[in-house]
Amino acid sequence: MTQARVEGGAARSVEVIAIDGPAGSGKSTTAQGVARALGFTHVESGAWYRAAALLALRRGLASESTVDGPAVAHAFETCLMEAAEARGTCQIRLDGEDVSAALRSPEVAALVSRVAAEPAVRHVVTERLRSLAGGLGLVMDGRDIGSVVFPEARLKVFLDASVEERARRRSAGDGRDVAPATLDRRDALDRGRAVAPLAVAPDAELIVADDLTLPQQVELVVRLYHEALTQRRA
Ligand code: DC
Repeated sequence: MTQARVEGGAARSVEVIAIDGPAGSGKSTTAQGVARALGFTHVESGAWYRAAALLALRRGLASESTVDGPAVAHAFETCLMEAAEARGTCQIRLDGEDVSAALRSPEVAALVSRVAAEPAVRHVVTERLRSLAGGLGLVMDGRDIGSVVFPEARLKVFLDASVEERARRRSAGDGRDVAPATLDRRDALDRGRAVAPLAVAPDAELIVADDLTLPQQVELVVRLYHEALTQRRA
């Protein structure tokens, strides 16, 4: 079993599959399918950053040009966040309120990369994400899961695709048109930030998904996971 070190606490045994990649690569849908196939829990870490951005908007902690990182981090640290699978989709509650739709709003999408670039916010989100490990196993998707949150994950996958394919997938998922240029801008912020930038971990399996269907992506990750388990036994 992989040892995930939880800051301030003891190391715990958890089985983790980390799926990282840029927006629209299909990581969340893939992670959800992999979790179902293996009986693991799925966590979409982007929702945690979106929740922090929503709090920043609602509490006036961000303007056009600045984000008050420590204040957003404090607001997020002290809120109750719950995630539950409901009818095939993930429902997120913030202090008891269902914010699943609000997290997908254009206002949150426009702000979230700047909020996620704040070191204080990354610190509290990372701690909360680590605390979710346990039970049978975890499939977590995001940008820095294999590199920072769970560097000792059993399997690390980096899922990529051309920006045109990603815009097509994101538009189909969100039910509204997403331009390739919008994704490009967000990716540039995610790749260029100082703390935990989006990058392929050296020991990650790179999957370029342009010519794969989502079921094929799930099948491939499940196969890679079984191979990783076999290597451990060998
Ligand atoms: O996956 P998503 O589009 O819901 O992610 C929302 C934002 O959060 C995006 O700008 C990248 C950022 N993010 C991050 O920095 N680290 C993660 N582990 C997950 C998401």
